[in-house]
Amino acid sequence: MSVRSTPTPKRIRRKVINDNNIKPHIDLIIIHANELVTMDTIYGVPRIGEDMKNLAIIHDGAVAISRDSIIFVGTTKELIEQFPPNEETIIIDATNRLVTPGLIDPHTHIIFDGYRENELEMKLAGKSYIEILESGGGILKTVKATRKAPLAQLIKNGRIILDRMMEYGTTTIETKSGYGLDVENEVKSLLAVKELNLEHPMDIISTFLGAHAVPPEFKGKTDEYVDLIITEMIPKIVEEELAEFCDVFCEEGIFSLEQTKKIINAAVKSGLKPQIHIDEIVDTSGALLAAELNAIQVGHLLRSNDKGLEALKSSNTIATLLPGTPFCLMLKDYAPARKMIEMGIPIALATDLNPNCWTESLQIIIALACYHMKLSPAEALSAVTINAACALNRQEEIGSLEVGKKADLVVFDIPSHNFLPYHFGVNLVSKVIKNGKIVIDLE
Ligand code: NIG
Ligand code: FE
Repeated sequence: MSVRSTPTPKRIRRKVINDNNIKPHIDLIIIHANELVTMDTIYGVPRIGEDMKNLAIIHDGAVAISRDSIIFVGTTKELIEQFPPNEETIIIDATNRLVTPGLIDPHTHIIFDGYRENELEMKLAGKSYIEILESGGGILKTVKATRKAPLAQLIKNGRIILDRMMEYGTTTIETKSGYGLDVENEVKSLLAVKELNLEHPMDIISTFLGAHAVPPEFKGKTDEYVDLIITEMIPKIVEEELAEFCDVFCEEGIFSLEQTKKIINAAVKSGLKPQIHIDEIVDTSGALLAAELNAIQVGHLLRSNDKGLEALKSSNTIATLLPGTPFCLMLKDYAPARKMIEMGIPIALATDLNPNCWTESLQIIIALACYHMKLSPAEALSAVTINAACALNRQEEIGSLEVGKKADLVVFDIPSHNFLPYHFGVNLVSKVIKNGKIVIDLE
C-alpha cells in the first residue's frame, strides 16, 4: 500500500493573515488574474493520481505580497475589500492572464565550460550516447573543458544560464557538479554554485555529483575512483558545506548498483540527501535501489521495470522525468509517465539542462511532457511547481501560492494554463516575481 494519502478537499482555501487585525504593509498586488493557479496543498503534497489535475484555480484571482512573502490569496473583490491599495502599492493587472507559482527546475547541470554541438552529427550517424562517451566525447569532453576553466568562467557561464531560466519563468533550481571529477575541480564547480546562489536572485540547491563518469586517469579502475569519492570528496564537500544533495549516474558501464549504494550510503552518513540518475539507457533496476535508499528524487526512469515502479509507489521518492533528454538523444521511448500517474507515483519534470540537452525553458519541457508523455497541461504544471518543490524538499516554502509562502510567481501572457503547451517554442512569460520583487518584465 502507498504511504501517501490523497485528501479530498471541499473547497479551495481563501487565506489571509489576520493577526489581531494588524494589517501588514502591502508592497505588491496582482489582481484580475483570469486564472490564478494557486496549487493549494489541500489537494495533497505531492500531488498524485487524479489530483495532479487539481490546480486550485481562482478566477479573477488576486495575490497580495508583503516584503518577500505572500500574505493574501483570493479573489480580486476580496483583496480590494481587505487590503485597499495605497499610492505606494505596486499593482499588476493580470486581466486575461495566467498567474502561477514560480516554476521549479529540480534537476539541472549548469556548471560546465565548452559546447557539444558537434555531437548531433554523431547521433545522426547512429552513434549512441554511451558510444560517444566511450570515444572521449560526451561528459568526458565537457570534463576536459571544465577542468581547464577558471572559477570565474564557470560563474560567468552559470550566470548567463540563470538569467535565461528566470526569463522563462523559473525561480528555483537544483544544480550539480559532475564535470570536475577530481577533488579540486569538483570543489571549484560547487564554489561556482555557491557564488551564483549568493549573487543571483535564483534560489539554487546544490548537489555533489562526483560520480557522474569515471575520469580518464581512473579508466578501468572504477572502484578506486569510488574510494576517492568516499574518502576524499564527500568529506571535503561536507566540511566546506558545498552541497545539500549527493547524486550518482547509476547506469550500465558507468556506476553499478553496488557502487551507487556505497556512495549514497556514505553520503547520507555524512549528512547529504540522496538522489540518483537511474534507468536512463538500460534498466538496471535503479528504481528499486532508489526506493530502497529512500532517495528524495530520482531522475530519468526511461526503462524502469514494474517491480521498481511498485517499489517507488510505496516509497516517498519523487520521480523526476526529463523528456528533454530522449528528445535530444532522438530516442523513440520516453518515461512511462501515464503509467506512473495511474499507479500513484508522484512525478516532477525538469530540464536536465546539460551540454547534451541544453534548454533553459521549462515551458518547452511542459510541451514535450504533453506531446510525448501524454500528460495533460494541468498535470505538467503540477509537475513543475508543487511536485518539483517536493523533489527538492522545499514544499513548505515554494511550489504553491499560499499565505506564508515565498512570493515567487509568474504572470504569463496567456489566458489559461492550456496555452502553455499549445503555443510552444516561444516565451509566454510577461513578468516574473522573485522574493516579492519584479525581476523580469517583458511588457
Ligand atoms: O542527466 N546522464 C547523465 N548525466 C546527464 C547528461 C550529462 C551530459 O551528457 O553531459 C543527464 O542526462
Ligand atoms: Fe541529469
